[in-house]
Amino acid sequence: MKPELQHQLIERVLAHLERRTTDTEDRPTLLPVAAYYAGADRDARYARELTALFRELPVLVGHVSQIPKPGDFFTHDASGVPLLIARDDAGQVGAFLNVCRHRGTRLEPAACGEGKKAFVCPYHAWSYGRDGALLGIPHERGFATIERESRGLARVPCDVAAGLIFVRPTPGEALDATTWLGAQIIDDLIGFGLQGSAHYASRREERALSWKLAIDVFLETYHLRPVHKDSIYPLFFDNIGLVDPLGPHLRNIFPKRSIKDLATQPRDAWILRRHANVLYHLFPNTLILVEPDHAAVLTLWPQGPDHTLLTSFTLVPEPPATEKARAYWDANNAILYGATAEDFTMGESIQGGMASGANREVVFGAFEHALAHFHRQIERLASPSR
Ligand code: FES
Ligand SMILES: [Fe+2]
Repeated sequence: MKPELQHQLIERVLAHLERRTTDTEDRPTLLPVAAYYAGADRDARYARELTALFRELPVLVGHVSQIPKPGDFFTHDASGVPLLIARDDAGQVGAFLNVCRHRGTRLEPAACGEGKKAFVCPYHAWSYGRDGALLGIPHERGFATIERESRGLARVPCDVAAGLIFVRPTPGEALDATTWLGAQIIDDLIGFGLQGSAHYASRREERALSWKLAIDVFLETYHLRPVHKDSIYPLFFDNIGLVDPLGPHLRNIFPKRSIKDLATQPRDAWILRRHANVLYHLFPNTLILVEPDHAAVLTLWPQGPDHTLLTSFTLVPEPPATEKARAYWDANNAILYGATAEDFTMGESIQGGMASGANREVVFGAFEHALAHFHRQIERLASPSR
């Protein structure tokens, strides 16, 4: 993030502190609980949104530091589509359906690997190159009428922005991650050094709540005091934050108490991430939490109307080379995941009562407007009339 923007955002926080206000819309927003798959159209809505949001939009699958050299790869199944992401000889990151073009066996069984020369199907040993091209067919005489060129791995659109790898998990036209995210978000993330960071500590966790609730719990500061009273709340303020919608995405600022001291310091010394967590919601399902010296990337994958898989990793300035360095990042992650456990407990509690009939709508307070923005984008991009 550019220094001028950091200064503007800090000014906005300081003004709120002085006036005891926070970013807000004019009025609360009501959202029918049917949006959380709690209505009669539960299955149809879920299927429609899964297609519109998780098959047709770009989703984040990883970071370039996971596959630094040609032949490095990882597989990815959380979206519901089996994907193989690999770096080719030209250094390009490509994404393919991880499915053999002979009779459809899962091609690469491993979660990740390095320097692979060819991907060989475990069934009849058809082999594919780093760029997905079909290289070899044992006993090829039996396939005389089959054109090799037409039997390469099925490519899915893939693009890299700020070091983050995005895929649209359906074969089709090219994907432009920069256009999708917008110049502002890319500029911010590059400014925070995400591009040159190193991937650390992949993690998976399943939770009994809708993917939407799993995102809602991150998007406001109203809950910090009651929910995180004994964990992270002492660092933050009660219900003071900034919300900037950026296209379908969001940038939320969670200021820390130390930001007050900046009022008496020269602007040259104003560094936002030291005094606030900066949270990006990349629509539909990724959260990037920028902390003082690292960032966490969390992605929420629907596994059913009320079941979600969280995949996450940490982006650190360089690969931790010592036990001490690992212990430092692990301690940071323990704080983060302690706090997210508190959040998900609330989300699961909401899920438990969602179909009870107590609420026909949930209400987002005027200062919970980041949630309103998030749900408006879902309506816009996945409405039945679209
Ligand atoms: S299914 Fe892959 S080689 Fe036969
Ligand atoms: Fe929280």
